[in-house]
Amino acid sequence: MTYNDIRKVFLDYFEQHGHKIVPSASLIPNDPTLLFTVAGMVPWKGILQGVEPAFAPRVADVQKCIRAGGKHNDLEDVGFDGRHHTFFEMLGNWSFGDYFKEEAIAMSWEVLTKVIGLDPNKIVVTTHISDDEATQIWKKLTGKDAIRLDKDNWWSAGETGPCGPCTEMHYDFGPDVPGGLPGSVDEDGGRFVELWNNVFMQYDRDANGVLTNLPKQNVDTGAGLERWAAVLQNKTDNYDTDLFVNLKHAVSDLTGVKETDENKPSFKIITDHLRAVGFAIADGVIPSNADRGYVIRRILRRAMRHGQILGHRGDLLSALYPALVEQMGDAYPELKANEKHVVEIIRNEENSFDDMLQNGMKLLESELPKVNNNILPGNIAFKLFDTYGFPLDLTQMILRDKNMNVDVNGFEKCMLEQKERSRADTRGTRVLWESQSDLPDTNDIEKYETKTSNPSKVLSILRGEEFVKSANENDNVEIALDHTPFYGTQGGQVGDTGIFKIGDKIVMNITETNRVGNVVVHKGVLVAPIKVGDEIMPEINQQNRQQIARAHTATHLLQAALRHVLNEDVEQRGSKVAPDSVRFDFSFGRALTAEEKQSVEDLINKWIAEDLPVKHEWI
Ligand code: ALA
Repeated sequence: MTYNDIRKVFLDYFEQHGHKIVPSASLIPNDPTLLFTVAGMVPWKGILQGVEPAFAPRVADVQKCIRAGGKHNDLEDVGFDGRHHTFFEMLGNWSFGDYFKEEAIAMSWEVLTKVIGLDPNKIVVTTHISDDEATQIWKKLTGKDAIRLDKDNWWSAGETGPCGPCTEMHYDFGPDVPGGLPGSVDEDGGRFVELWNNVFMQYDRDANGVLTNLPKQNVDTGAGLERWAAVLQNKTDNYDTDLFVNLKHAVSDLTGVKETDENKPSFKIITDHLRAVGFAIADGVIPSNADRGYVIRRILRRAMRHGQILGHRGDLLSALYPALVEQMGDAYPELKANEKHVVEIIRNEENSFDDMLQNGMKLLESELPKVNNNILPGNIAFKLFDTYGFPLDLTQMILRDKNMNVDVNGFEKCMLEQKERSRADTRGTRVLWESQSDLPDTNDIEKYETKTSNPSKVLSILRGEEFVKSANENDNVEIALDHTPFYGTQGGQVGDTGIFKIGDKIVMNITETNRVGNVVVHKGVLVAPIKVGDEIMPEINQQNRQQIARAHTATHLLQAALRHVLNEDVEQRGSKVAPDSVRFDFSFGRALTAEEKQSVEDLINKWIAEDLPVKHEWI
């Protein structure tokens, strides 16, 4: 049976047994405790907890999942066995207060032994140590004695939320494959593979670990499609099943390298990471330096390293994406719908890391001969991170091949020191200004009416780290006035630039204006001496201000157009308004299609072309 066959027979069975079949939810969960959808139950957490109504008593689906960060993280294991994936598909059926243990177990058994036709003798079952009921049901239905386990047979998605005891079904590949029974020390050997987990969601766990009974007894099941494919195709390695074989062919076609025993991990990592990166970006994740964006960036960079091992440079996942669409696009139309956009994002990301990867590897290789005790010093790992963009786990992965590791404590120390340095930089003079408790708030009401300029008095001068009574030509200073038309950076809009004059003479060039509390601080270079008490004429750079104002208006047009083209749910999340650029962050559940982006752009251009009046109003 191929992947497509399995998805179909699974869903058909549960549809025939009264389940509503639904499409996979997004990989981006509507749940702040999780980075990704890690299991089929994630979209149903609210229903399981009883805080959302169930839309049907019985539901089944095939859910896209990523386990690559947080509590559920398989990233480090991918490539080194035949079982682990960062991205995988989870077959699942749910009862929301409908059937419970007996019917759930009976259906799982029927699917495994009748629908997909596995030999009942090759199935081993486990139950939770406390769960006599499930254990007796297995005995009654199948004659099997379940293996009773503790931690392995208790399931929860996160630290808090719905949870409960579970029963698992494992397949036995037979004594030719090394590995022990579930729960034994060598259970990871590969002989027994977990096929299906039925969780009996009875409890809600709070932040203190206290369990309370859920309002209804629910069933949450999950089965790894990749493992089913392996068992049904008689492969002990998931990466030898039809979908992966086809993806691996695409890797060979692209790189010109055939798979061998030696480079097998690279083929696994590239094909696995292609799925994680491709699906995540198609669902709206953007590679970045934080949170899920950073997980995706790290996965992509790991894949590129394995491209490099195969002797490949340049586009890798971006070039392989069409093969992913070919393999999985029918089951997941979002892959096709967003193809251009996804390829573009991956390609940008790959381009920006390509040189860094080559140069970082050169640095690493030049350091390796100096390494003592197989531990790379933390400062080198930090340099790779800071200068060449090597996530720590990438460096660790590279060293793993050489049986080396990183001095992680040393790395973290460097990281901390750098954070302190940059905090000191940005706090810099801020702390000094904050210490001036006598300084009055700056009256900056004139910032909205900048056409006229009023004389103002110098109240305070900071030169270097010292407040001074007077300063001279060429000094870098920061100055506070009693009132000012200068807008200090706030609310995402950058501050003004301009000059101070005394009489007709320019005394200072202002390159930056900031706010410290309610004090406006003008930063720049003196072109003539200045002293506390001087009366100066502040003049902002009108052209620069106009450009900033235009950019600010553009954010409003952009938000209006986004709401028009997408929907009213679009919310501003942040912005940067500068004379030469605008950044507008907004929330929306997925990436925009090329057509949507074009519509937004066209709409804004239409409004601009209409030359609508822009008016100022005091409210
Ligand atoms: N939520 C359960 C699991 O992921 C079914 O194993």
